[in-house]
Amino acid sequence: MNVAIILAGGIGSRLGLGKPKQFMKVAGKTVLEHTVEAFQKHDLIDEIVIVMHANYVHDAESMLLKNHWTKVKRILNGGSERYESSLVAIKAYENTSNQDQINFIFHDAVRPLVSKRIIDETISALRNYDAVDVAIPAVDTIIELDSSKQFISSIPNRSYLNRGQTPQAFKYKTIQRAYELAMQDPNLQATDDCGIVRKYLPKTEIYVVQGAEQNIKLTYPEDIYVLDKLFQLKSTEPDGNIAFEDLKGKVLVVFGGNSGIGLDMINIAKKHGAHCYAFSRSINNTDISDVSDVENALEQVYGKEGKVNYVVNSAAVLNKEPIMHLNNRTINSIIDINYKGMVHVTVAAYKYIKESKGAILQFTSSSYTRGRANYALYSSTKAAVVNFVQALAEEWEQDNIRINCINPQRTKTPMRTANFGIEPEGTLLKSEDVAKISLQTLLSNFSGNVVDVKL
Ligand code: CTP
Repeated sequence: MNVAIILAGGIGSRLGLGKPKQFMKVAGKTVLEHTVEAFQKHDLIDEIVIVMHANYVHDAESMLLKNHWTKVKRILNGGSERYESSLVAIKAYENTSNQDQINFIFHDAVRPLVSKRIIDETISALRNYDAVDVAIPAVDTIIELDSSKQFISSIPNRSYLNRGQTPQAFKYKTIQRAYELAMQDPNLQATDDCGIVRKYLPKTEIYVVQGAEQNIKLTYPEDIYVLDKLFQLKSTEPDGNIAFEDLKGKVLVVFGGNSGIGLDMINIAKKHGAHCYAFSRSINNTDISDVSDVENALEQVYGKEGKVNYVVNSAAVLNKEPIMHLNNRTINSIIDINYKGMVHVTVAAYKYIKESKGAILQFTSSSYTRGRANYALYSSTKAAVVNFVQALAEEWEQDNIRINCINPQRTKTPMRTANFGIEPEGTLLKSEDVAKISLQTLLSNFSGNVVDVKL
C-alpha cells in the first residue's frame, strides 16, 4: 500500500504572506490542491495523509469536501518542525496491522509540479530499496565555508553534488525505525527524512531518482513568478475516457461555429444529442466585437431552450503581415475580435453558465508564449486569452463556473490555409481531433487550464 504524506505543517515565513504559502493560489487553485491532486490521480497511490498546521486543519477539511479527494484518509495536526510533522504521520500508522506492506511517500505540499514520472520512479525504486530520494544535479559550483563563514574551506567535486527535492519514500518499517532511534538522540538536529535514515540507519542504501527543475519548492517571493509561468506552460489534457454521451440534452453555443474547429465541435456534439447553436458574422450576422450581438445570441438560445450549458468562442482573425503594413482600421478590428470579442463572449455567458454550472471555452495559440513576427497582434491577443482565462477561473470558482482554453498546435483550418498556404499532410492537426479534445475539456472538471493539443 502506497501512502502519500503531504507535509503542509509549515507557515512559510520566508515567503511572508498572510497565510501559509500552501494556500497561495496559482492557476485557479491553491498550491496545496495542485499537490494533493497530483497524488489523488496517480494510479499507484492508495491513500493520502495531509499533515497540516494546526490553525489551518479546518481549511484543509473544507478543501477535502470541495474536491472529492477520495484517497485522503486523514488530516493530521503538524508539529513545529518539519521532522515533527513527518513523525505525526508515522505515529498515525503505528497500530496498522500490515506494516510490512506499507510504503510512505513524503512530499512537500509546496512542490505542486511534481510529475507523474517522478512519482512512478520513486515508487518503483521501493521494490528494490528501503529508502529513495529525489534530486537534481547541482548546476552551480558549491563551496564550503569555514567556521568564520567568510572563507572557503573546500570546493567539493560538483559531479557528485545534487540538490535534494521531494518526494522521499521509504518502506514504513525503515522510516519508523529511523525515527525511533532519532527520538532517543538528545542532540537530534532538524533535517529531512532521508537525513534521518542516513544518520540513524547508516547501512540503509538510499537510492536517488532523477528529479526535475520544474519540481520547485515555493520558498521565496520570486518563486511565485516562476511557478505561475510553469503552470501557464504546463500541458494538460482531459482524461480520454470522458464519455461524449454526457453531451446528450446539453445546450452548446459556439461563436465562430461557421468553420474550422468550432464547426467540427458542433457536428460532433450534435451526433451525441446536444442541442447546438452556431453564431458568426456569416451565420445570424453575429459579430462578437459587438457586445449586444453576443448578448442577443445567448438570450435567443436561452429563450428557446431554457438553459445554456456550454459557451465556446472559436472566432479569431489572423493577418500574416508586418504590423506596419496594417492600417488603423485593420489593427482595431483584430483587437476588437480577438481580444474584446473574447471578453464579450465570456462576460455575456456568465449568468447562463452560473445557472447551469457549465463551462466556457476559449482558444489560444502556441504563439501565446512568445510573440511572433508578422502576427504580433494575433500572438499578443492569444497571450491575453490565457491570462484572462486564468484570472476568471479563480474569480468565478465560487460560482461553479469552469473556464479553460485550448492551445492547438498548427491545425488544418480554412484560416490557416488562407495565411500559410497548403502545408504537407501529416504536419498539421486535424480540426476534428482538436474539436474532440475541446468537447472533452468542456465535459471535464478542469478550470483555468491551458489544454495543449499536439500531433
Ligand atoms: N512543513 C511541515 N511542518 C513544519 C514545517 C514545514 O509540514 N513544521 C512542510 C511545509 O509545509 C512545506 C515543507 O515542509 O510543505 C517544506 O518546508 P519549508 O519550505 O521550509 O516550509 P515552511 O516551513 O512553511 O517555510 P519557511 O521555512 O519559510 O517558514
